[in-house]
Amino acid sequence: MFETFSKAPQDKIFALMAEIAADDRPGKIDLGIGVYKDDEGNTPIMSAVKKAEERILKSAKTKSYIGVAGNKAFSKAMVGLALDDAVPADRVRAAQAPGGTGALWVLMQLLKRGNPDATLWVSDPTWPNHKPMAENVGFTVKTYPYFDPETGKVRFEEMLKTLDGLGTNDIVLLHGCCHNPTGANLTPEQWDQVIASLQKTGAFPFIDLAYQGFGDGLEADSYGVRAVGGVLPEVAIATSCSKNFGLYRERVGCAMVIARDVAQADTANSQMLNIIRSAYSQPPDHGAEIVRIILEDEELKAEWKAELEAMRTRMVENRQKLADAIRTRSNSSDFDFVAEHRGMFSLLGLPKPVIDRLKTENAVYMLDDSRINIAGLGDERIQRLADAIVNATR
Ligand code: LMR
Repeated sequence: MFETFSKAPQDKIFALMAEIAADDRPGKIDLGIGVYKDDEGNTPIMSAVKKAEERILKSAKTKSYIGVAGNKAFSKAMVGLALDDAVPADRVRAAQAPGGTGALWVLMQLLKRGNPDATLWVSDPTWPNHKPMAENVGFTVKTYPYFDPETGKVRFEEMLKTLDGLGTNDIVLLHGCCHNPTGANLTPEQWDQVIASLQKTGAFPFIDLAYQGFGDGLEADSYGVRAVGGVLPEVAIATSCSKNFGLYRERVGCAMVIARDVAQADTANSQMLNIIRSAYSQPPDHGAEIVRIILEDEELKAEWKAELEAMRTRMVENRQKLADAIRTRSNSSDFDFVAEHRGMFSLLGLPKPVIDRLKTENAVYMLDDSRINIAGLGDERIQRLADAIVNATR
């Protein structure tokens, strides 16, 4: 059996994580995987999370099965967080999923069942796992123009032109906020134009909302998902609690569908549950229960929101500090766009030889497309990174 295999490609984000761990140079700068880090380079457990966990430890009475949809109160709270009251609740169904990745996978399986011949469109570039996942599910994957590395901005006119040419056999995967890997986001006006295009063509909107609260705030980051849900009859939404609750390893996500009416919502939900049961039966509960407790308790929710807001503002400050530090050294505005980007990532637009040089000479690690994780920086690392980038690009 196994002699028939050739080696599968490694995921580049996790391969880089292993490479960084194996580098014992002091002062290495890890700008790789999308994990929030404080000034000391640690990824702390949020205090609201700790408190919710203590409550679970004290009061949990059973570890019995919870059911195929997982923690229903969690999913209800997650729908509230993403959509608020933008969509009538009776048209929305949600299932807890193992992380945002699990939610994407469940929804891709669902959309494949719904339209086996559909083409799935992703932004150019996109999160490196979108395409392999969609291809594993059996989709043909194509890209729509998205990012211009020269300007650091969204190529919106070209994006819209491509979207305008799609039809009912197309699914468009959109990043709800904090675009990964570029950090360049759609403005509310651009979202409205995308919605008008989808309305006209009948292409199906599929939103990956993995970073709500990391860009311009919990409410502002949900503009796109709420506007799409409020106008279009059918939408699929994958959300994640990895980043905004810091629950990376607990694998907490939610797969949501918005349907035309109650009957179709119920049928779509039954298909979603069928997919889950035949894949992993039901999702793990611990992380979802933490999130449920936080979102249902006013005091804990306020504490969590304050912690999230502190992380967000620190990332915005890091962006400004890095852009300033590079400008001071280079006397150019070439990297000013970093301050305009939002979320955890920015795509610097550096060529491969520069990325390699930064790694070998400065122990600065970023993805091979020059995506950096802005949350991996602290004040001292920002200055060293600016020195290294300016030297390597001279
Ligand atoms: C990332 O893009 O680095 C994160 O979303 C982690 C992952 O699973 O790829």
